[in-house]
Amino acid sequence: MKIRGANPGDFAAIQEMAAVVFADYGDYGRIIPDWLAHDGVLTSVGEEEERLVGFSMVGFYRIDPTTVLYAADLLAIAVAPDAQGRGVGRQLLKHTIAKAEAARRRLPVRELRLSVAEPNLRALKLFRAAGFIELPGEHGRYDGGQRALHMARLL
Ligand SMILES: CC(C)(COP(=O)(O)OP(=O)(O)OC[C@H]1O[C@@H](n2cnc3c(N)ncnc32)[C@H](O)[C@@H]1OP(=O)(O)O)[C@@H](O)C(=O)NCCC(=O)NCCS
Repeated sequence: MKIRGANPGDFAAIQEMAAVVFADYGDYGRIIPDWLAHDGVLTSVGEEEERLVGFSMVGFYRIDPTTVLYAADLLAIAVAPDAQGRGVGRQLLKHTIAKAEAARRRLPVRELRLSVAEPNLRALKLFRAAGFIELPGEHGRYDGGQRALHMARLL
């Protein structure tokens, strides 16, 4: 698999994949175009023989108005259903962590954060293996009703 930055020619395929793989959690086909259009969001795609098999998106924001420190937010990571379970997600996550680490050259980014639905055991396993730790507290629910967990990993 080749991983590269997304370009506008990928946007329709990303939106379509998001609508399918996140269907249990909410209407991501509607949310994703805003993220794709945002200058502060880095989108990467995984490609096999010119077919898009996965994507990830990471955004950056100030931790709070009283500090100059930033957090990176893994907004989405997804693998096409017929490409899941054979390491694509793991490679995309590794690439995305490296991108967030590289952003430290320009921004004081301290950590990478994410939200994940409690029943999404495959994603939880992937994130824990990459060093993400669950944060305490209640973080609301997805539109699909699942409890949202927050995780973070120092960069
Ligand atoms: C979650 C997702 C990104 C993982 O990508 P993937 O390519 O399927 O996962 P990988 O093949 O890289 O495997 C990652 C880990 O998950 C585990 N895993 C794979 N298939 C699994 C399954 N059916 N059940 C439980 N764990 C599984 C693997 O054991 C692997 O860990 P390992 O390397 O120690 O074996 C992908 O399944 C996906 O797009 N799911 C739908 C969208 C989603 O939930 N995104 C995350 C939301 S925050």
